[in-house]
Amino acid sequence: MNTILIANPKGGSGKTTMSTNLAGYFASRGRHVVLSDMDRQRSATAWLNRRPVSLPLIHGLDGRGKHADSLSAEWSIIDSPAGLHGDKLSDAVKRADWVVVPIQPSAFDIGATEDFLEILRAEKAIRKERTFVAMVGIRVDPRTKTALKLQEFLDQAGFPVMTNLRDGQVYMQAAEQGMSIFDMRPSLVKRDVQQWAPLLHWLINADRNAK
Ligand SMILES: Nc1ncnc2c1ncn2[C@@H]1O[C@H](COP(=O)(O)OP(=O)(O)O)[C@@H](O)[C@H]1O
Ligand SMILES: [Mg+2]
Repeated sequence: MNTILIANPKGGSGKTTMSTNLAGYFASRGRHVVLSDMDRQRSATAWLNRRPVSLPLIHGLDGRGKHADSLSAEWSIIDSPAGLHGDKLSDAVKRADWVVVPIQPSAFDIGATEDFLEILRAEKAIRKERTFVAMVGIRVDPRTKTALKLQEFLDQAGFPVMTNLRDGQVYMQAAEQGMSIFDMRPSLVKRDVQQWAPLLHWLINADRNAK
Protein backbone atom coordinates (compact mmCIF):
# COMPACT_ATOMS: atom_id res chain seq x y z
CA MET A 1 0.00 0.00 0.00
CA ASN A 2 1.10 3.54 -0.75
CA THR A 3 0.18 5.95 2.01
CA ILE A 4 0.01 9.71 1.52
CA LEU A 5 -0.58 11.98 4.49
CA ILE A 6 -1.78 15.49 3.65
CA ALA A 7 -0.86 17.83 6.46
CA ASN A 8 -0.49 21.47 7.44
CA PRO A 9 -1.46 22.94 10.83
CA LYS A 10 -3.11 25.92 9.16
CA GLY A 11 -6.84 25.62 8.49
CA GLY A 12 -7.83 26.44 4.93
CA SER A 13 -4.39 25.69 3.51
CA GLY A 14 -5.78 23.22 0.99
CA LYS A 15 -5.50 19.82 2.71
CA THR A 16 -8.96 18.52 1.86
CA THR A 17 -8.66 19.84 -1.67
CA MET A 18 -5.34 18.00 -2.11
CA SER A 19 -6.77 14.84 -0.52
CA THR A 20 -9.96 14.65 -2.55
CA ASN A 21 -8.18 15.43 -5.81
CA LEU A 22 -5.44 12.86 -5.20
CA ALA A 23 -8.08 10.27 -4.32
CA GLY A 24 -10.05 11.21 -7.44
CA TYR A 25 -6.95 10.96 -9.60
CA PHE A 26 -5.97 7.45 -8.50
CA ALA A 27 -9.58 6.28 -8.70
CA SER A 28 -9.79 7.66 -12.25
CA ARG A 29 -6.78 5.48 -13.10
CA GLY A 30 -8.68 2.42 -11.89
CA ARG A 31 -6.77 2.11 -8.62
CA HIS A 32 -8.23 0.92 -5.35
CA VAL A 33 -8.23 4.09 -3.24
CA VAL A 34 -9.08 4.61 0.40
CA LEU A 35 -9.65 8.17 1.59
CA SER A 36 -9.32 8.47 5.38
CA ASP A 37 -10.76 11.49 7.10
CA MET A 38 -8.97 12.35 10.35
CA ASP A 39 -10.68 15.73 10.63
CA ARG A 40 -13.67 16.10 12.94
CA GLN A 41 -15.17 18.59 10.49
CA ARG A 42 -15.60 15.63 8.12
CA SER A 43 -15.18 17.66 4.94
CA ALA A 44 -13.63 14.77 3.02
CA THR A 45 -16.38 12.43 4.21
CA ALA A 46 -19.04 14.94 3.16
CA TRP A 47 -17.35 15.22 -0.24
CA LEU A 48 -17.47 11.44 -0.62
CA ASN A 49 -21.15 11.46 0.30
CA ARG A 50 -21.77 13.96 -2.51
CA ARG A 51 -19.82 11.87 -5.00
CA PRO A 52 -22.01 10.60 -7.86
CA VAL A 53 -22.18 6.79 -8.01
CA SER A 54 -21.36 6.98 -11.71
CA LEU A 55 -17.80 8.13 -10.89
CA PRO A 56 -14.92 5.77 -10.03
CA LEU A 57 -15.33 4.39 -6.52
CA ILE A 58 -13.35 5.77 -3.60
CA HIS A 59 -13.57 3.93 -0.31
CA GLY A 60 -14.07 6.25 2.68
CA LEU A 61 -12.89 5.79 6.26
CA ASP A 62 -13.82 8.28 8.94
CA GLY A 63 -10.79 7.68 11.12
CA ARG A 64 -12.71 6.13 13.99
CA GLY A 65 -12.71 2.53 12.85
CA LYS A 66 -10.56 0.43 10.58
CA HIS A 67 -7.22 1.34 9.09
CA ALA A 68 -6.76 1.41 5.34
CA ASP A 69 -4.39 -1.60 5.42
CA SER A 70 -7.32 -3.85 6.30
CA LEU A 71 -8.97 -2.87 3.01
CA SER A 72 -5.97 -3.82 0.83
CA ALA A 73 -5.91 -0.38 -0.78
CA GLU A 74 -3.31 0.44 -3.40
CA TRP A 75 -3.41 4.09 -2.44
CA SER A 76 -4.32 5.32 1.01
CA ILE A 77 -4.89 9.07 1.19
CA ILE A 78 -5.18 10.63 4.63
CA ASP A 79 -6.78 14.03 5.10
CA SER A 80 -5.67 15.47 8.44
CA PRO A 81 -7.13 18.18 10.66
CA ALA A 82 -5.64 21.62 11.28
CA GLY A 83 -3.33 21.59 14.28
CA LEU A 84 -2.30 17.93 14.03
CA HIS A 85 0.68 17.68 16.39
CA GLY A 86 2.50 15.60 19.01
CA ASP A 87 2.21 11.82 19.09
CA LYS A 88 -0.69 11.81 16.65
CA LEU A 89 1.42 13.63 14.08
CA SER A 90 4.47 11.41 14.70
CA ASP A 91 2.36 8.31 14.36
CA ALA A 92 0.74 9.50 11.14
CA VAL A 93 4.13 10.47 9.68
CA LYS A 94 5.59 7.09 10.59
CA ARG A 95 2.75 5.27 8.82
CA ALA A 96 3.03 7.40 5.68
CA ASP A 97 5.30 6.95 2.68
CA TRP A 98 4.80 10.60 1.81
CA VAL A 99 3.71 13.75 3.55
CA VAL A 100 2.31 16.34 1.18
CA VAL A 101 2.18 19.85 2.65
CA PRO A 102 -0.06 22.36 0.85
CA ILE A 103 0.81 25.98 1.52
CA GLN A 104 -0.71 29.25 0.39
CA PRO A 105 1.31 32.38 -0.31
CA SER A 106 0.40 34.55 2.66
CA ALA A 107 2.37 35.73 5.66
CA PHE A 108 -0.05 33.95 8.01
CA ASP A 109 0.25 30.65 6.18
CA ILE A 110 4.02 30.88 5.91
CA GLY A 111 4.30 31.73 9.60
CA ALA A 112 2.10 28.81 10.65
CA THR A 113 3.91 26.37 8.39
CA GLU A 114 7.43 27.37 9.46
CA ASP A 115 7.26 25.66 12.85
CA PHE A 116 5.51 22.67 11.36
CA LEU A 117 8.34 22.09 8.88
CA GLU A 118 10.80 22.30 11.77
CA ILE A 119 8.85 19.53 13.52
CA LEU A 120 8.78 17.44 10.34
CA ARG A 121 12.55 17.82 9.91
CA ALA A 122 13.00 16.38 13.41
CA GLU A 123 10.74 13.35 12.81
CA LYS A 124 12.77 10.15 12.81
CA ALA A 125 10.95 8.58 9.83
CA ILE A 126 11.79 11.67 7.77
CA ARG A 127 15.41 11.91 8.93
CA LYS A 128 15.90 8.23 8.10
CA GLU A 129 14.27 8.79 4.68
CA ARG A 130 11.52 6.27 5.25
CA THR A 131 8.93 9.03 4.79
CA PHE A 132 9.35 11.76 2.19
CA VAL A 133 8.00 15.29 2.32
CA ALA A 134 6.83 17.40 -0.60
CA MET A 135 5.49 20.93 -0.60
CA VAL A 136 2.73 22.16 -2.91
CA GLY A 137 2.00 25.86 -3.42
CA ILE A 138 -1.75 26.54 -3.43
CA ARG A 139 -3.49 29.46 -5.16
CA VAL A 140 -0.20 30.70 -6.50
CA ASP A 141 -0.14 33.53 -9.03
CA PRO A 142 3.49 33.69 -10.18
CA ARG A 143 3.17 37.39 -11.07
CA THR A 144 2.63 38.46 -7.48
CA LYS A 145 5.01 39.53 -4.73
CA THR A 146 3.46 37.06 -2.30
CA ALA A 147 4.29 34.22 -4.69
CA LEU A 148 7.91 35.39 -4.66
CA LYS A 149 7.87 35.47 -0.86
CA LEU A 150 6.51 31.93 -0.80
CA GLN A 151 9.21 30.85 -3.22
CA GLU A 152 11.92 32.36 -1.02
CA PHE A 153 10.50 30.64 2.03
CA LEU A 154 10.26 27.28 0.27
CA ASP A 155 13.77 27.55 -1.17
CA GLN A 156 15.20 27.40 2.31
CA ALA A 157 12.63 24.96 3.72
CA GLY A 158 14.72 21.91 2.85
CA PHE A 159 11.88 19.99 1.17
CA PRO A 160 11.16 19.87 -2.56
CA VAL A 161 8.35 21.95 -4.03
CA MET A 162 6.58 19.52 -6.33
CA THR A 163 4.24 21.97 -7.97
CA ASN A 164 2.24 25.17 -7.66
CA LEU A 165 -1.50 25.15 -8.24
CA ARG A 166 -3.31 28.22 -9.45
CA ASP A 167 -6.35 29.76 -7.81
CA GLY A 168 -9.06 28.09 -9.86
CA GLN A 169 -12.87 28.09 -9.65
CA VAL A 170 -12.78 24.48 -10.81
CA TYR A 171 -11.58 23.39 -7.37
CA MET A 172 -14.66 24.88 -5.70
CA GLN A 173 -16.96 23.47 -8.39
CA ALA A 174 -15.42 20.02 -8.07
CA ALA A 175 -15.68 20.13 -4.25
CA GLU A 176 -19.38 20.97 -4.40
CA GLN A 177 -20.12 18.06 -6.69
CA GLY A 178 -18.11 15.33 -5.01
CA MET A 179 -15.72 15.40 -7.94
CA SER A 180 -12.01 15.84 -8.45
CA ILE A 181 -10.68 17.96 -11.28
CA PHE A 182 -9.77 14.62 -12.92
CA ASP A 183 -13.49 13.79 -13.18
CA MET A 184 -14.31 17.06 -14.94
CA ARG A 185 -14.52 17.82 -18.64
CA PRO A 186 -10.86 17.90 -19.83
CA SER A 187 -11.30 21.21 -21.67
CA LEU A 188 -12.31 22.87 -18.37
CA VAL A 189 -9.30 21.71 -16.39
CA LYS A 190 -6.51 21.39 -18.94
CA ARG A 191 -4.15 23.80 -17.21
CA ASP A 192 -4.95 22.51 -13.73
CA VAL A 193 -4.33 18.90 -14.70
CA GLN A 194 -0.96 19.94 -16.14
CA GLN A 195 -0.05 21.60 -12.86
CA TRP A 196 -0.64 18.33 -10.99
CA ALA A 197 1.61 16.31 -13.31
CA PRO A 198 4.96 16.72 -11.48
CA LEU A 199 3.47 15.68 -8.13
CA LEU A 200 1.65 12.69 -9.64
CA HIS A 201 4.78 11.69 -11.54
CA TRP A 202 6.80 11.75 -8.32
CA LEU A 203 4.26 9.59 -6.48
CA ILE A 204 3.71 7.11 -9.30
CA ASN A 205 7.43 6.59 -9.84
CA ALA A 206 7.75 5.46 -6.26
CA ASP A 207 4.57 3.31 -6.36
CA ARG A 208 5.30 0.27 -4.22
CA ASN A 209 2.61 -1.87 -5.80
CA ALA A 210 4.13 -1.38 -9.23
CA LYS A 211 7.49 -2.79 -8.09
N1 LIG B 1 -6.07 25.84 -5.91
C1 LIG B 1 -7.22 26.31 -5.40
N2 LIG B 1 -7.95 27.23 -6.08
C2 LIG B 1 -9.08 27.74 -5.57
N3 LIG B 1 -9.58 27.41 -4.40
C3 LIG B 1 -8.93 26.51 -3.67
C4 LIG B 1 -7.72 25.90 -4.12
N4 LIG B 1 -7.30 25.04 -3.15
C5 LIG B 1 -8.20 25.11 -2.17
N5 LIG B 1 -9.18 25.98 -2.46
C6 LIG B 1 -10.33 26.37 -1.61
O1 LIG B 1 -9.82 26.87 -0.39
C7 LIG B 1 -10.67 26.52 0.69
C8 LIG B 1 -9.86 25.80 1.76
O2 LIG B 1 -9.35 24.60 1.24
P1 LIG B 1 -9.43 23.23 2.05
O3 LIG B 1 -8.93 22.19 1.11
O4 LIG B 1 -10.77 23.03 2.65
O5 LIG B 1 -8.34 23.50 3.21
P2 LIG B 1 -8.06 22.68 4.56
O6 LIG B 1 -8.57 21.28 4.37
O7 LIG B 1 -6.58 22.74 4.73
O8 LIG B 1 -8.77 23.41 5.66
C9 LIG B 1 -11.78 25.67 0.10
O9 LIG B 1 -12.90 26.47 -0.10
C10 LIG B 1 -11.21 25.20 -1.24
O10 LIG B 1 -12.23 24.98 -2.19
MG1 LIG C 1 -9.86 20.13 5.56
